[in-house]
Amino acid sequence: MPSHNNQQNLDKSHYVIRGGIEGRNRLRILSRVMWPSTLHLLQRAGIRPGMVCLDIGCGGGDVSCELARLVGPHGRVIGMDIDEVKIDLARKEAAASGIPNLEFRTCNLSETSPEPEFDFIYARFLLTHLPEPSAFLAKIHQALRPSGTLVVADIDFRGYFSYPESASVARYVDLYTQAVKRRGGDPNIGPRLPALLSAAGLTEIQMSVTHPAGLDPEVKLMTPLTMENIADAVVAEGLASRTEIDQTRRGSLSIRVYPRHHRLHAARVRDLGPPPSSVAVRNVFGTVAECRRYRWRELTH
Ligand SMILES: C[S@@+](CC[C@H](N)C(=O)[O-])C[C@H]1O[C@@H](n2cnc3c(N)ncnc32)[C@H](O)[C@@H]1O
Repeated sequence: MPSHNNQQNLDKSHYVIRGGIEGRNRLRILSRVMWPSTLHLLQRAGIRPGMVCLDIGCGGGDVSCELARLVGPHGRVIGMDIDEVKIDLARKEAAASGIPNLEFRTCNLSETSPEPEFDFIYARFLLTHLPEPSAFLAKIHQALRPSGTLVVADIDFRGYFSYPESASVARYVDLYTQAVKRRGGDPNIGPRLPALLSAAGLTEIQMSVTHPAGLDPEVKLMTPLTMENIADAVVAEGLASRTEIDQTRRGSLSIRVYPRHHRLHAARVRDLGPPPSSVAVRNVFGTVAECRRYRWRELTH
């Protein structure tokens, strides 16, 4: 399969992780593992009843459902994703749970510009897969109402750690990193996010860095599960054989590991004028969770 660097109109092949039912099942576990820290982020970013929300690249809609509960009957949530199988499953699950204020749409974000109707837009683990995250952020900025909030959570695979150290985990990180890069994404996009958001014209950027971890078996499961779910892309890109993938998957089974997550929220503010053409973002990062507040005026003079 060819690589997709610089591709303007994406089909699903830029996405290295399996879609469909298998992809959905992986996301279900991911969402359970992530939920405490996701809820904390949503609350810090100011989610509240009555808001109109977009969960973009929503996958199986796990966070969309929680957003719908958080905004309540006077609010509304739309989940969008390129994968029609996951969207179909998400619709059925939302209907079975009786969540009325939630709608799912299949859409390719490279071909769609959402209407400017949202108070709150959430994008988790999506930008890392896009060859042109800046173009996407410019669109998303336009989809926010003035004073609306964008929340982005994405990864930095260089932060992957395991104890004890493991050759299988190191190989998994290497294969994941190479596969995402070959398809035009950035597996280490986390630290780039403040500059990307600023360049898209967002303001009031706040950031935290987390290293989700846990002692229960599902946390350990995420690495072998993701190894299996990227196997098609890894083989198609000629990075490893099926046999090596199986060895790597088995070797990482009992080891607890996680990548570093960078989480940002930022506002669309009506009266600050056009975004700067270039922005220096300083002193934003830390190796432990930290949060600071900047205005781009402060950053740019
Ligand atoms: C790692 S998953 C994250 C799903 C969800 N945000 C979550 O955290 O559970 C990334 C999602 O982005 C979707 N996606 C990737 N490229 C897309 C595009 N161009 N348009 C719409 N969705 C896309 C994939 O189908 C996948 O469901």
